[in-house]
Amino acid sequence: MQWKIPLADLNYGPEEEEAVARVIRSRWLTMGEQTSRFEEEFRRFTGARHAFALSNCTVALHLACAALEIGPEDEVIVPSLSFVATANAVLYTGAKVRFADIIGPADLTLSPQSVQSLINDRTKAIVVMHYGGYPCQMDEIMQIARAKGLRVIEDVAHAPGAWKNGKHLGTIGDVGCFSFFSNKNLSTGEGGMLITDQDDIADRVRKMRSHGMTTLTWDRHRGHAYSYDVIALGYNYRIDEIRAALGIQQLGKLLMGNNKRKAITESYWKTLQSSGAEFPFRDAYQGIPAIETESTSPEQEKNRTASACHIFPLLLPKGVDRLRFIEGMRAAGIQTSIHYPPIHRFEYYRKQYPNVALPTTEDVAAREVTLPLYPGMRDDQVEYVAQTVLRVMDSVSCSPRD
Ligand SMILES: Cc1ncc(COP(=O)(O)O)c(C=O)c1O
Repeated sequence: MQWKIPLADLNYGPEEEEAVARVIRSRWLTMGEQTSRFEEEFRRFTGARHAFALSNCTVALHLACAALEIGPEDEVIVPSLSFVATANAVLYTGAKVRFADIIGPADLTLSPQSVQSLINDRTKAIVVMHYGGYPCQMDEIMQIARAKGLRVIEDVAHAPGAWKNGKHLGTIGDVGCFSFFSNKNLSTGEGGMLITDQDDIADRVRKMRSHGMTTLTWDRHRGHAYSYDVIALGYNYRIDEIRAALGIQQLGKLLMGNNKRKAITESYWKTLQSSGAEFPFRDAYQGIPAIETESTSPEQEKNRTASACHIFPLLLPKGVDRLRFIEGMRAAGIQTSIHYPPIHRFEYYRKQYPNVALPTTEDVAAREVTLPLYPGMRDDQVEYVAQTVLRVMDSVSCSPRD
């Protein structure tokens, strides 16, 4: 399908092409200099003590669980309103998931009260997901986790370049896991990053991402080692140099891109306010200043709270037929999406967890539609999408489906 306006688009230019060509000319394609540099730049950007570039966010989440020694005896509390990988990563360890509800239509992140109600003797950890790039209620969640001795994994797939009270998302819990999938704010096609401040977690991740081996091919290539031992059950969760080189370029553009996303988000909120739809996160985030991209003062950094504005979700008024709305948008050449079909309603999960009831997640997930949002969107395209939403909403609200 040739969309007039796709849901997402790459923020790529000649810099990325040149970076890939340089790697090819270097004749070294897997974890090496580019990977080390990407990790170091990402570590500094987020303020974390350790950063590990990986093949994708799903394996980052799995390694986070494995490094926290989550296993078959344990339960982990997860959101259902997320991409399925958030829960799958827990199941890989043999642990059980417990699905928590979200706060409400104005905030689609994990409800601290719901989390609290699911804790029992087997609970080992909480996975939070910063939906759309908007920070979860981390103060409350960390308070619960500390009081009960639980570990916290942050799924930061949507939120590179997002902060809460001066802390980059992913550095508040024990481990943060990022995705660089093709539609993400920082995109390398496939790719991910795990960050942590804790040395023991970092040691385990370092080993497990490359087969539990004590040295890497890169170490041996540089003559720093001749052999290796295997000291843990590890995986091949490595990234390659081409993606790492793309990541370096993308990191350099991230804040500018996020600010553009924010401007588009503000524009949608303004134009669509009379539409009858609800706008998650709007009341808390409308009008907050864009992220400073240069010369930040320590005072500004200390107080920084910002969304990465990864996606633009809206909730259709109750009773509006979502399929008709999506079809109306499609007829105008506009791609939309749904974030997300709740995980506990998928067949695979329903069979294992048949009695899960999450009223707020279910209500929101049935009404949510995601509009196009990417840094390269022109003002006239944003206006076209917004005006089409108003027109289609009008037509599907007035005429019942026959
Ligand atoms: C919230 C969330 N978690 C995890 C993932 C998995 O990321 P990846 O595709 O990098 O494995 C995604 C990717 O879409 C995501 O949106």
